[in-house]
Amino acid sequence: MPKKVILDLDPGIDDAMALCMALFDPRLDVLAVTAVGGNVSPQIATRNVQALIEQLDPPRWPRVGVASYADTGLPVDGRHLHGIDGLGGVHLDVAELRTRHPSEKIICDEIRANPEEVTIIALGPLTNIARAFQRDPELPSLVGRLAISGGTVAVPGNVTPAAEFNFYCDPESARAVLRSPCTKTLVPLDVTNRVVMSLDLLNQLPPETTKVGGLLHQILPPAFRAYRQQFGLEGIHVHDSVTLMAVMNPELFTAKEMAGDVETRGDLTMGATVFDRRRVPAWRFNLEVAVDMQKDDVVRELLASLANSGRRTGRNRFEV
Ligand code: RIB
Ligand code: CA
Repeated sequence: MPKKVILDLDPGIDDAMALCMALFDPRLDVLAVTAVGGNVSPQIATRNVQALIEQLDPPRWPRVGVASYADTGLPVDGRHLHGIDGLGGVHLDVAELRTRHPSEKIICDEIRANPEEVTIIALGPLTNIARAFQRDPELPSLVGRLAISGGTVAVPGNVTPAAEFNFYCDPESARAVLRSPCTKTLVPLDVTNRVVMSLDLLNQLPPETTKVGGLLHQILPPAFRAYRQQFGLEGIHVHDSVTLMAVMNPELFTAKEMAGDVETRGDLTMGATVFDRRRVPAWRFNLEVAVDMQKDDVVRELLASLANSGRRTGRNRFEV
């Protein structure tokens, strides 16, 4: 039986790659894709979700949620890595927006319709998740599992020395979600940073004649250029695809119960994830944290998922 999932994205190139995997994987039933501001503004994130689904044209189109700004706005964005439009400057065409429902409403509706069955895969700031829990206080106990891409345990942040991007964008929501009573799995930078896809990835993608291959061959090269220019790195991180793999292939990851929270103040510390790792923790365990993975197997399964998506998406619309 395919696992019912909701993807919450701030596309974002690595979000887009995770979407390419999820929409066509037989292990998943993607009920909804909800947009959230982060790498790009809420408006552009919403447009990108719609455009990606139109380009990929999955067998069953998921519901789409409309993003709106976090109460405190967005302190930063990811356009230096993801391009001015969030997708490498490809500027995908998009038809008239088909839906006007807010992301948090879509999340509430789908969880209520499938109590304790849905895994929410949060690949951007946690604004929508926190709002859904505010909108329906019983919701956390009705979520099957919440998988979160973000945070750090023992490695530096990637947007400040202390904070990971998704948590830094909306620390109040990240704190509210980590303090909620739902079953949570966190996939932090400690794990996702360990996967660096080399330029050889471009040779391992599905053919450009497929919709998935055509899209990824457009949006990934700008990401490699940005990583080289910004970090001098001959490769790219795919944080969100690794987090998706933790849902699709949990046997490849090692997780442990931890007690974690998020700093919401401080010029230097805002957005930092803090764990009680004392010999006798005083904080209550509130989430599972992926602390290790079989990296080579994760990369192999990630590429296999992309290859499957390629096979299932026939000829693409990028063809002239
Ligand atoms: O820190 C990495 C995360 O922030 C990823 O989800 C990336 O897409 C950005 O949203
Ligand atoms: Ca993301």
